[in-house]
Amino acid sequence: MISRLLRIKPMSMLSAEASEQGEHTLKRSLSAMNLIMLGIGAVIGAGIFTLTGQAAALYAGPAVALSFVVAGLTCAFAGLCYAEFASIIPIAGSAYTYGYATLGELVAWIIGWDLCLEYAFGASTVASGWAGYFNSLLQQFGIVFPPALTTTTGNVLVRYHGIWIDKMSLPPGVGDAGLPHVTGLFNLIAALIVLVVTTILVIGIKESANFNSAIVVVKLAIVGIFIAIGGYFLFRHPQVAHRNWSPFIPPRDASGGFGWRGIPKGASRIFFAYIGFDAVSTAAQEARRPQRDMPVGILGSLGVCTILYIVVSLVLTGLVSYKTLNVSAPVALGIDATGVTWGSLLVKIGAIFGLATVMLVMLLGQTRVFYSMSKDGLFWKWASAVHPRFRTPWITTIVFGLFAAIMPAILPIDKLADLVNIGTLLAFTIVSAGVWVLRVRQPELHRPFKTPLVPLVPILGVASAVYLMTQLALITWEVMIGWLILGLVIYFGYSLKHSRVQQLEKMTAAD
Ligand code: ALA
Repeated sequence: MISRLLRIKPMSMLSAEASEQGEHTLKRSLSAMNLIMLGIGAVIGAGIFTLTGQAAALYAGPAVALSFVVAGLTCAFAGLCYAEFASIIPIAGSAYTYGYATLGELVAWIIGWDLCLEYAFGASTVASGWAGYFNSLLQQFGIVFPPALTTTTGNVLVRYHGIWIDKMSLPPGVGDAGLPHVTGLFNLIAALIVLVVTTILVIGIKESANFNSAIVVVKLAIVGIFIAIGGYFLFRHPQVAHRNWSPFIPPRDASGGFGWRGIPKGASRIFFAYIGFDAVSTAAQEARRPQRDMPVGILGSLGVCTILYIVVSLVLTGLVSYKTLNVSAPVALGIDATGVTWGSLLVKIGAIFGLATVMLVMLLGQTRVFYSMSKDGLFWKWASAVHPRFRTPWITTIVFGLFAAIMPAILPIDKLADLVNIGTLLAFTIVSAGVWVLRVRQPELHRPFKTPLVPLVPILGVASAVYLMTQLALITWEVMIGWLILGLVIYFGYSLKHSRVQQLEKMTAAD
């Protein structure tokens, strides 16, 4: 039995799949530039536009910039490992496929199932951030959507200075007594945007890539404009930066936030901001030259984003006190402080378009993982049904689109983000370990890209990911473990019996 669970998918089978062509396969249409754009499209999103504000206000203060360094390092180690795997195994499916080729079927199943936490819940988290910016923009134009349909179930909103905001986002020292209240029913805006993105994905990968590239340019421009306007303001008013950055690491408070320990705590929340570069690897089967372009796509997008994040977080916490940043549109709040009145409008519009592309790549990644699992017989057949005209895995796209639409309607963004983070960190741990295992087991394998300093980099990858996981709340661990148990039930109930690798193995043994 144990040997069945440890069965690996042979490289020959993987290479044969990588070169499959025809009507029922995915289209190879993405260039290196498309892949970097896909990476940036997935990476810059709710993390920097929303969660940075929360992490600064609740955990790290201005030292959230250091949290970005810590989380960025963790991603760099894992990114180097992902790049080696993606160059050897250019197949849709990402960490799931890598696990299958190296650590055996059971581990592969666990990663694939776990990636659902990353991608589907990731899209949900971003939808929640998107809804915050969209609603804030509507209110700026005096359009008031029924407030109970703009937030998650049970969350309390208060009307402050004419706009509806989260009760927790009231500035320090302002009480909610006497302010009009409303309790959230569900976040309809967040659910609707996921459904729109799902429709785009059903229509086609090439169309999705073009839509993505156009919007990534807009998103980078908005981040650039924020840095330019904010940086120039701070340059002209260094006393503002001095006031807001002192102390750079705020002293520990009664709730256990801030101080030196606030930096890794902040890192475990804003880690979300980096998630997505690995989604590049899920598009390997749609890349024109996957072996050369995958590492470029993964490491290129990660490098660009790391630099931007550190600068954005420094500028943001320089412009306004970190204490005021626990709001749904913190970057817009930051730019307001410069007195550039059109700035916040621009940031909100940029965030609205920018976050949409993140959802797109996340849901794309999600469907491609289940596409691969279904092709391998580990998941039901409908998940790999390709639409004859659109050439996309349409049924799985719709099923997980609906799932991802419901989540942000009922769960708050911080809970969703932490779940995504723990799921992704677990995948990083397994991928980093997998690189080392494969080097030992199959040293002769052709590796177009090699992770440097093995085993040091994989060890650091595992250690840093596990460390960030330990910073997350107990409830996050409990939900992840529950999720994995559900996955195991499906594996033993369905996948083990239908696995193609197992069936091939049996046929070979019978011959
Ligand atoms: N990194 C992506 C974001 O921040 C998931 O939205």
